[in-house]
Amino acid sequence: MSRNSQSSGRRQFLKQSVALSGLLGAPGVLRAATRRRQLNVAAVGVNGMGWSDLNNIGTHAGVHFAGFCDIDSSRFDKADAAYPGVKHWADYREMFEQLGTGFDAVIVSTPDHMHAPVAMAAMKMGKHVYCQKPLTHTVWEARQLNQMAAKVGVITQMGNQIHSAKEYRLGVRLIQDGAIGKVQAVHSWVGVQGRQYCQRTDRPATAEVPASVNWDLWLGAAQERPFAADVYHPFKWRDWQDFGSGALGDFGCHILDPVFTALGIRHPISIHAENSGTTTEVWPGPETVTWKFRGTKYTTGPIEVVWRDGGLKPPAELAGMPTERQLPAAGSLFIGEGGTMVLPHVGMPQLYPADRFADYKLPEVAGASHWHAWVDAVLAGQKTTDGFDYAGPLTETVQLGNVAARLPGMTIEWNAESFRTNVPAADRLLTKSYRSGFEVPGV
Ligand SMILES: NC(=O)c1ccc[n+]([C@@H]2O[C@H](COP(=O)([O-])OP(=O)(O)OC[C@H]3O[C@@H](n4cnc5c(N)ncnc54)[C@H](O)[C@@H]3O)[C@@H](O)[C@H]2O)c1
Repeated sequence: MSRNSQSSGRRQFLKQSVALSGLLGAPGVLRAATRRRQLNVAAVGVNGMGWSDLNNIGTHAGVHFAGFCDIDSSRFDKADAAYPGVKHWADYREMFEQLGTGFDAVIVSTPDHMHAPVAMAAMKMGKHVYCQKPLTHTVWEARQLNQMAAKVGVITQMGNQIHSAKEYRLGVRLIQDGAIGKVQAVHSWVGVQGRQYCQRTDRPATAEVPASVNWDLWLGAAQERPFAADVYHPFKWRDWQDFGSGALGDFGCHILDPVFTALGIRHPISIHAENSGTTTEVWPGPETVTWKFRGTKYTTGPIEVVWRDGGLKPPAELAGMPTERQLPAAGSLFIGEGGTMVLPHVGMPQLYPADRFADYKLPEVAGASHWHAWVDAVLAGQKTTDGFDYAGPLTETVQLGNVAARLPGMTIEWNAESFRTNVPAADRLLTKSYRSGFEVPGV
């Protein structure tokens, strides 16, 4: 019997609990009353990271898949082999409409430009959402998703799964325990750069669309452009501003996540980017982005967080580590009053100078499945630690970095409350225009 087979009695129970859940969307209240034993999940984007998401979520005993959606019919193979018999759709709008009350929750694992249209449509139907990182493609979308999740009371989680890993949790704990004292500055970095997958800055020659691909649905909210082979779908869309979010968008919501949690920072007050040059098509090559935040109880005062990618790293001597050791390929360096902490992406935190911390007893910290944590939270009607109330501001910050990346050399002041900068050109980049049929409604 396939994992997806169910008895009719169980189906009846689910229908009732789902129908009930539709009535319980009191604004701002988590749907705690809808305690259930099983969750009907629909998945949008079922290959690439979508396969990892649905398979990790599918291993939870409480999960039943109600529908699989992918714009490329050749990409259902892995999902079908593991979960046979689940109905397919190419268009998430049709899947949502046809499933109606037959699903409770959605996994969104599409390219970045479609996270907000899909997640917003699901939340407007009262569905719980697990959405890949970066939560959204624009700053405005991140704010809207955060507000909509709060308004309808659904349980959400961003797909930066290392948030729940032991290594990141331990890094957060060490900072909050004061292992290196109050933090004065943070440097984060990753080796990849924003335009590395296609190695081009202009639009390529067009090609015939493969029979399995629905190019119109792949474009979704983005402005029309012809299909080209091996530059957009799959995976390489990351380079392009219309679809992806560059190296910062790809890794920022991972690597800056423990920085955010550990320091309790939320909204930057200014952003400044330097890079190798930008176009209106692709993201920049090597870049440095600096955000300033107000101080928190874990910092010595206002704090700068500096991001580098494309092979740029902080000067190694800042780390206070032995000279024979190298900074990891990606991670964060926390500089505190009483030492430094290097938190690799992904690896155990290291405290320096080593002799000062030789006898430091590391606390016991357990990791968890980020995917199961979301399912458990939905089933129990509880909040997650990486819901859109947290992931929204983190993604706003990352995407503000991408606003600055398109205006290099400028210091942009950010007023999170009024949702404005001091630079009209930056304000225009907080949002974008949507192709008809894929708009993201404001809250
Ligand atoms: N958390 C992580 O570690 C991690 C790792 C890789 C990717 N990601 C994120 O996952 C998302 C997907 O990235 P990827 O590398 O898997 O991309 P991909 O292009 O390899 O795969 C995307 C999948 O979604 C499908 N798809 C595209 N548009 C769709 C739409 N409108 N409706 C339904 N299906 C659609 C594609 O056919 C494909 O199967 C991105 O947001 C990315 O940032 C996260």
